[in-house]
Amino acid sequence: MQVVKASEMKALDEWFIKEVGVPAEVLMERAGLSVAEAIFEAYPVETYGSVLVVCGPGNNGGDGMVCARHLVNLGYEVEVVLLAEKETYQGEALTNLKVLENLGFMPEEVGYIVEFRKVLYDFSPEIMVDAIFGTGLKRPIEGNLAAIVEEINLYRETRGCKVVAVDMPSGVCADTGEVLGTAVKADLTVTFELPKVGQFFYPGKEYVGRLKVCPIGFFKPLVEKKAPKRYLIDLEWAKKVFRPRKGYTHKGLFGHLLVLAGSKGKSGAGLLSALGGLRAGAGLVTLASTRSLQPVYASMLPEALTAGLEEGPRGEVSYANLESLLDLCEKKTALVVGPGLGLGEEVKRLFWELLERVKVPVLIDADGLTIASENPERLKELPCPKVLTPHPGEAERLLKISKKEILRDPLTSAKRLSEMTGAVVVLKGPHTVISSPDGREGISVWDVPGLSQGGTGDVLSGVIGALMSQRYEVFEAACLGVFLHGWAGEKLASEKGPFGYLASEVANKIPEVLKEICD
Ligand code: APR
Repeated sequence: MQVVKASEMKALDEWFIKEVGVPAEVLMERAGLSVAEAIFEAYPVETYGSVLVVCGPGNNGGDGMVCARHLVNLGYEVEVVLLAEKETYQGEALTNLKVLENLGFMPEEVGYIVEFRKVLYDFSPEIMVDAIFGTGLKRPIEGNLAAIVEEINLYRETRGCKVVAVDMPSGVCADTGEVLGTAVKADLTVTFELPKVGQFFYPGKEYVGRLKVCPIGFFKPLVEKKAPKRYLIDLEWAKKVFRPRKGYTHKGLFGHLLVLAGSKGKSGAGLLSALGGLRAGAGLVTLASTRSLQPVYASMLPEALTAGLEEGPRGEVSYANLESLLDLCEKKTALVVGPGLGLGEEVKRLFWELLERVKVPVLIDADGLTIASENPERLKELPCPKVLTPHPGEAERLLKISKKEILRDPLTSAKRLSEMTGAVVVLKGPHTVISSPDGREGISVWDVPGLSQGGTGDVLSGVIGALMSQRYEVFEAACLGVFLHGWAGEKLASEKGPFGYLASEVANKIPEVLKEICD
């Protein structure tokens, strides 16, 4: 499913109305009806009999008016309040206001908090419909409007009233998930045709409640082409991309992943990356590290091949390994470089000179990203396809902007980094996003607090590396890797508890999710 920002949805709406010729009233009718039907399904009329529909000044308010009419048909007792003066309504919202009046509704204008409180407590609804603002929110909600929004939240908390948001919870920015001023806390958000970016990002995500996406009559084959190539990375997406294995196979078909990782004191990172690679189905994995770590790796992960490299004074791989590493890369189908690699001068030189000469797809993680942050533009000149997997701290070093700014709008941050480096960027965090230099974007559905622990990122690098080694296209490998890794974490969380499981357990859970993806 594609995910849109407010301006993109507006463009789709306008194209559908002006170019295709579907009347705007038809879309508003479908929108309002779908909210009424969603309410009927979620909150049965026998239990939740009364609904207050709170309408704002724009088309979101118009959707609310249509919804009110259909709720009466479904058996609810309904009252409508307007947060704008009647004379200010325009277009389809005005049409629907007249329809309501013609049907005998007496929508009250309640611009002030005292007026709103009076209607609210006199009527005491069991459900409230938030049709104040949708994608048209332009600035922070202030003054009386802010007081009304807070009254809705207070009433919901104290009376157990259900709040259903039309398209977006009012106050949540559809593009980023930021709360502008204040916002309505919804139990259910009914959004139209395509989900909006702000519904997946904190803090907005916490205001959405359950999200229901309702078609309102757009023409799917054309919407898919016209909407931006920004995908929700969910099971439906993963199933389309994932390639199940057929009967006759051999390991040569699934690539050979080289993991260049590990140094004195940071040996576990290489091990976890290689484990992730094996669990995600690379035909072969070679773990290359310092000579002193080789026997440790070989004994702890006998399924991996190992290569012992010359060791520098800091217990890191030395520059002298350049030619032998280039030989090692020969016949490999992907390279993961960086987990626990170290940050000494020799490693830095080796990193750049190696990457200037390899042609296989490369994933750069951890220390590799820190090295790259000294000159991120240089990454663009490398001949190989690249994936970068920064967490917000690494992204901060690469982009030279604050972590706060990165977390405020991760999609834009990932896009900037992707444009700067020519790499597919996996920006990890509570809502991981993926950005490709060709404009494609992915938003992970997983939000697994238990994955915020040392080692899980190393596993992710191996999982994505394994998919790259199996010749998945790099953006698809990155998105699929994020999906499998997040799903494995989610499964562990539901089986073992919210946190405390190990990164190696996340890797070991991957075959289970691979099975489910094939079912
Ligand atoms: N405070 C006061 N008024 C505001 C604020 C604010 N913070 N932000 C926006 N407005 C006003 C705008 O000036 C405009 O009059 O709200 C109105 C627009 O609000 P919306 O109804 O969200 O936007 P609109 O473009 O009219 O409709 C989009 O319609 O397609 C439906 O529900 C769907 O979300 C979608 C909505």
